[in-house]
Amino acid sequence: PTVVFHQPDSPPDVVEGKAGTSLMRAAVENNVRGIVGECGGQAMCATCHVYVHPEYLDELEPIGEDEDEMLEDTAAPRLDRSRLGCQVALDDALPEIHVDVPPTQV
Ligand code: FES
Repeated sequence: PTVVFHQPDSPPDVVEGKAGTSLMRAAVENNVRGIVGECGGQAMCATCHVYVHPEYLDELEPIGEDEDEMLEDTAAPRLDRSRLGCQVALDDALPEIHVDVPPTQV
């Protein structure tokens, strides 16, 4: 699936992720700026925070309990469309997804 990371102050990064991996993984493997993934995908750091474009929200698995807790601890404000990138699975059923990278992760 294609993941488009919209950057706050530069053109978007368009990357290809592997189905079955996470949106965070796709970012880190392609050196997308602003997605850190410090805990390696354990829902324990919130440095993979993204704002999912609204039209894709319903296509994703619901927010899990750990994710919900960690989203309370993001560096940039939590919005209704906030998700942890490591908890968003890429799936061929959704060939393209757009997210905004928050202005800060620390
Ligand atoms: Fe740490 Fe997602 S990589 S919470």
